[in-house]
Amino acid sequence: MNMKVAIANDHGGVELKNFLIESFPEIEWANLGTDTTDSTDYPDYGYKLAEAIANGDAQFGVAICGTGIGIGIACNRNKKVRASTCTNATMARLTRIDNDANILCLGARVVGNLVAKDCFEAFINTEFEAGGRHERRVKKLGE
Ligand code: RB5
Repeated sequence: MNMKVAIANDHGGVELKNFLIESFPEIEWANLGTDTTDSTDYPDYGYKLAEAIANGDAQFGVAICGTGIGIGIACNRNKKVRASTCTNATMARLTRIDNDANILCLGARVVGNLVAKDCFEAFINTEFEAGGRHERRVKKLGE
Protein backbone atom coordinates (compact mmCIF):
# COMPACT_ATOMS: atom_id res chain seq x y z
CA MET A 1 0.00 0.00 0.00
CA ASN A 2 1.39 3.39 -0.99
CA MET A 3 -0.14 5.56 1.71
CA LYS A 4 1.37 8.14 4.03
CA VAL A 5 -0.32 8.61 7.39
CA ALA A 6 0.71 11.17 9.99
CA ILE A 7 0.13 10.12 13.58
CA ALA A 8 0.24 12.30 16.69
CA ASN A 9 -0.41 11.62 20.33
CA ASP A 10 0.01 12.93 23.84
CA HIS A 11 1.44 10.88 26.70
CA GLY A 12 -1.78 8.84 26.94
CA GLY A 13 -1.43 7.55 23.40
CA VAL A 14 2.15 6.32 23.15
CA GLU A 15 1.37 2.62 23.50
CA LEU A 16 -1.56 2.64 21.07
CA LYS A 17 0.46 4.62 18.54
CA ASN A 18 3.29 2.08 18.65
CA PHE A 19 0.78 -0.75 18.32
CA LEU A 20 -0.77 0.81 15.19
CA ILE A 21 2.60 1.53 13.60
CA GLU A 22 3.71 -2.06 14.20
CA SER A 23 0.37 -3.46 12.98
CA PHE A 24 0.53 -1.69 9.61
CA PRO A 25 4.15 -1.88 8.39
CA GLU A 26 2.98 -1.25 4.81
CA ILE A 27 1.97 2.31 5.73
CA GLU A 28 4.49 5.12 5.51
CA TRP A 29 4.09 6.67 8.95
CA ALA A 30 5.07 10.20 9.99
CA ASN A 31 5.35 10.16 13.76
CA LEU A 32 4.48 13.64 15.10
CA GLY A 33 3.63 12.59 18.64
CA THR A 34 5.48 12.23 21.89
CA ASP A 35 7.34 8.98 22.50
CA THR A 36 7.46 9.16 26.28
CA THR A 37 4.81 8.99 28.98
CA ASP A 38 5.92 12.32 30.49
CA SER A 39 2.89 14.56 30.79
CA THR A 40 2.27 16.72 27.70
CA ASP A 41 -0.49 18.97 26.32
CA TYR A 42 -2.68 17.37 23.66
CA PRO A 43 -3.45 20.67 21.82
CA ASP A 44 0.22 20.96 20.81
CA TYR A 45 0.02 17.62 19.01
CA GLY A 46 -3.43 18.20 17.56
CA TYR A 47 -2.34 21.51 16.00
CA LYS A 48 0.83 19.97 14.61
CA LEU A 49 -1.05 17.07 13.04
CA ALA A 50 -3.78 19.32 11.63
CA GLU A 51 -1.16 21.48 9.96
CA ALA A 52 0.48 18.44 8.38
CA ILE A 53 -2.85 17.30 6.95
CA ALA A 54 -3.84 20.80 5.79
CA ASN A 55 -0.45 21.11 4.04
CA GLY A 56 -0.92 17.79 2.25
CA ASP A 57 2.09 16.18 3.95
CA ALA A 58 0.06 13.01 4.50
CA GLN A 59 -3.15 11.56 3.12
CA PHE A 60 -4.69 10.83 6.51
CA GLY A 61 -3.98 11.54 10.15
CA VAL A 62 -4.45 9.60 13.36
CA ALA A 63 -4.74 11.54 16.61
CA ILE A 64 -4.57 9.79 19.95
CA CYS A 65 -5.05 11.04 23.50
CA GLY A 66 -6.73 9.51 26.53
CA THR A 67 -10.27 9.98 25.23
CA GLY A 68 -9.62 10.96 21.62
CA ILE A 69 -11.75 14.03 22.32
CA GLY A 70 -9.31 16.75 23.40
CA ILE A 71 -6.89 16.15 20.56
CA GLY A 72 -9.84 15.95 18.15
CA ILE A 73 -11.10 19.37 19.28
CA ALA A 74 -7.62 20.76 18.68
CA CYS A 75 -7.42 19.21 15.20
CA ASN A 76 -10.79 20.62 14.22
CA ARG A 77 -9.67 24.21 14.89
CA ASN A 78 -8.06 23.93 11.45
CA LYS A 79 -10.61 24.62 8.69
CA LYS A 80 -9.11 22.09 6.33
CA VAL A 81 -9.44 19.30 8.85
CA ARG A 82 -12.36 17.02 9.55
CA ALA A 83 -11.33 15.00 12.59
CA SER A 84 -13.65 12.35 14.01
CA THR A 85 -13.42 10.60 17.33
CA CYS A 86 -14.50 7.03 16.73
CA THR A 87 -15.06 4.13 19.09
CA ASN A 88 -15.91 1.46 16.54
CA ALA A 89 -15.31 0.53 12.90
CA THR A 90 -18.83 1.54 11.81
CA MET A 91 -18.22 5.11 12.96
CA ALA A 92 -14.82 5.12 11.25
CA ARG A 93 -16.33 3.83 7.99
CA LEU A 94 -19.30 6.22 8.02
CA THR A 95 -17.23 9.28 8.85
CA ARG A 96 -15.25 8.63 5.67
CA ILE A 97 -18.39 8.09 3.54
CA ASP A 98 -20.43 10.96 5.02
CA ASN A 99 -17.91 13.52 6.26
CA ASP A 100 -14.78 12.85 4.21
CA ALA A 101 -12.95 12.80 7.55
CA ASN A 102 -9.20 13.17 7.17
CA ILE A 103 -8.16 12.54 10.78
CA LEU A 104 -9.22 9.56 12.86
CA CYS A 105 -9.17 10.31 16.59
CA LEU A 106 -8.85 7.49 19.06
CA GLY A 107 -9.08 7.36 22.83
CA ALA A 108 -6.42 5.06 24.23
CA ARG A 109 -8.30 4.89 27.53
CA VAL A 110 -11.59 4.16 25.78
CA VAL A 111 -10.93 1.62 23.03
CA GLY A 112 -8.70 -1.44 23.15
CA ASN A 113 -5.87 -1.95 20.69
CA LEU A 114 -7.81 -4.32 18.45
CA VAL A 115 -10.87 -2.07 18.24
CA ALA A 116 -8.55 0.83 17.37
CA LYS A 117 -6.93 -1.32 14.69
CA ASP A 118 -10.36 -2.13 13.20
CA CYS A 119 -11.25 1.57 13.23
CA PHE A 120 -8.06 2.46 11.41
CA GLU A 121 -8.50 -0.30 8.83
CA ALA A 122 -12.09 0.80 8.11
CA PHE A 123 -11.03 4.45 7.94
CA ILE A 124 -8.25 4.12 5.40
CA ASN A 125 -10.13 1.62 3.22
CA THR A 126 -13.32 3.63 2.80
CA GLU A 127 -13.88 6.23 0.10
CA PHE A 128 -15.84 9.43 0.56
CA GLU A 129 -19.20 9.30 -1.26
CA ALA A 130 -18.53 12.29 -3.47
CA GLY A 131 -20.83 14.08 -5.89
CA GLY A 132 -24.06 14.30 -3.93
CA ARG A 133 -25.54 15.45 -0.67
CA HIS A 134 -22.49 14.50 1.39
CA GLU A 135 -20.26 16.66 -0.77
CA ARG A 136 -22.60 19.63 -0.39
CA ARG A 137 -22.57 19.27 3.39
CA VAL A 138 -18.82 18.77 3.66
CA LYS A 139 -18.29 21.89 1.55
CA LYS A 140 -20.30 23.88 4.10
CA LEU A 141 -17.99 22.68 6.86
CA GLY A 142 -15.05 24.38 5.19
CA GLU A 143 -16.76 27.73 4.60
C1 RB5 B 1 -4.43 13.52 29.58
O1 RB5 B 1 -4.42 13.14 30.90
C2 RB5 B 1 -5.85 13.59 29.04
O2 RB5 B 1 -6.50 14.70 29.55
C3 RB5 B 1 -5.83 13.65 27.54
O3 RB5 B 1 -5.11 12.58 27.04
C4 RB5 B 1 -7.16 13.61 26.82
O4 RB5 B 1 -7.94 12.55 27.26
C5 RB5 B 1 -7.93 14.85 26.77
O5 RB5 B 1 -8.97 14.95 26.07
